[in-house]
Amino acid sequence: MIYTDNEVLRSLLTVGAKLPAISDLREMMDVILREARLIARAEAGSLFGVKEGRLRFVAAQNDRLALPEVVRELQDKEMAVSDDSLAGFAASSGRVINIPDAYALTPGAPFRINRDFDSATGYRTKSVLTVPLKCPDGNRIGVLQLINRISPSGAIVPFSTENSGGLMALSSMAAVTIQNALLKEQLHKAHLDTIIRLSVAAEFRDDDTASHIRRISAVSTKIAQALGMPPEQVELIQYASPMHDVGKIGVPDAILCKPGKLTPEERKIVQTHATIGAKILGEPTNDLIAMARDVAVSHHERWDGGGYPDGLSGCDIPFAGRIVGLADVFDALVSERCYKPAYSVESALGIIRSEGGKHFDPNVTEAFFNSLDEILLPYERGEVVEEIEEA
Ligand code: C2E
Ligand code: SIN
Ligand code: SIN
Ligand code: FE
Repeated sequence: MIYTDNEVLRSLLTVGAKLPAISDLREMMDVILREARLIARAEAGSLFGVKEGRLRFVAAQNDRLALPEVVRELQDKEMAVSDDSLAGFAASSGRVINIPDAYALTPGAPFRINRDFDSATGYRTKSVLTVPLKCPDGNRIGVLQLINRISPSGAIVPFSTENSGGLMALSSMAAVTIQNALLKEQLHKAHLDTIIRLSVAAEFRDDDTASHIRRISAVSTKIAQALGMPPEQVELIQYASPMHDVGKIGVPDAILCKPGKLTPEERKIVQTHATIGAKILGEPTNDLIAMARDVAVSHHERWDGGGYPDGLSGCDIPFAGRIVGLADVFDALVSERCYKPAYSVESALGIIRSEGGKHFDPNVTEAFFNSLDEILLPYERGEVVEEIEEA
């Protein structure tokens, strides 16, 4: 397909209108790359992101090759922003580079061409147009590389500058899109960090509290993913789970830090942390706080109805509460507490398995075991002290 000027304009408008609706950076990059290739009639192309002086593949397309394996391999590779590759040179110099034949570089060219891709695929890269992606603030955030312009007769011809206006507009759009996605990622990290700090402050207990909370958030997230929950719900659980015990702020230290078993009266007082948490998070103003309140009030309910504070059973227990409830118990079991030693991961897994369908939702239990390898990573990195085996 060959674009007329009007079609270029329409394509730009279409991409511009589509992007805000796409939340996945890779998907955005695929859309942008596809349009850039249509405008420039390129048979293949790649988009690279620049991060901390390194270039990373974020998208690659090739009409002649089935790319998946090669690209996956290349995606794990990084290149320095340096003159060792064309993309690196474009990023470091900020210049648009138009090369008629990549294998016939003029001697003394200020860059080399990285032939990893060609050697891996047998593809012959001939004409190349490499465009740095510049943000309005001048930050070079990525590189667009278009490969092998196809003439109407099907021959590989050099790229021309005839349509460069549209291409430059698309490049700016790509730059701003990548920057927004990175900013959003930073904002999300800061948000989660704030939630964890506040949750730790609310519990104001030992130094380990922050890592317990982080692990519970990570385990809950993995379970939610394994259950096939939509990404927005998974994200809500990730952010809501750290707040599950904020109600412990209303429980005296003397009880929470008591070295031994609690008396029945003390136990009752500890158990009020679920309803206190719900009060703190009450009158939710958004979905996140609403889920955090659900989790706070219901994370000690049991599937068989024997939990607290309301003795709910089965699906009457909010979904997120069932997930965080399991993550909480698992982490409590393998952690040392003032009142108990740490159990080994094996013992803890045994308890969780035997409580499936009793304490825990059987589906949640299954999802936990289905993603066990990933779930156990932070536990195996020695972040949890495992000293004493269960008696
Ligand atoms: P936590 O220490 O974070 O424990 C969370 C949940 O993990 C517990 O909820 C329980 O369901 C499970 N869990 C923790 N340790 C064990 C264990 O050794 N075996 C088994 N089978 N399950 C365990 P629970 O029981 O409702 O307790 C809620 C909170 O009350 C605990 O949070 C802790 O802060 C406090 N607590 C519970 N029992 C005692 C105790 O004997 N002494 C003291 N000082 N505090 C306790
Ligand atoms: C903690 O309170 O130590 C972390 C949260 C939990 O394990 O319940
Ligand atoms: C409990 O009964 O509250 C904890 C035991 C368990 O479900 O592992
Ligand atoms: Fe709790």
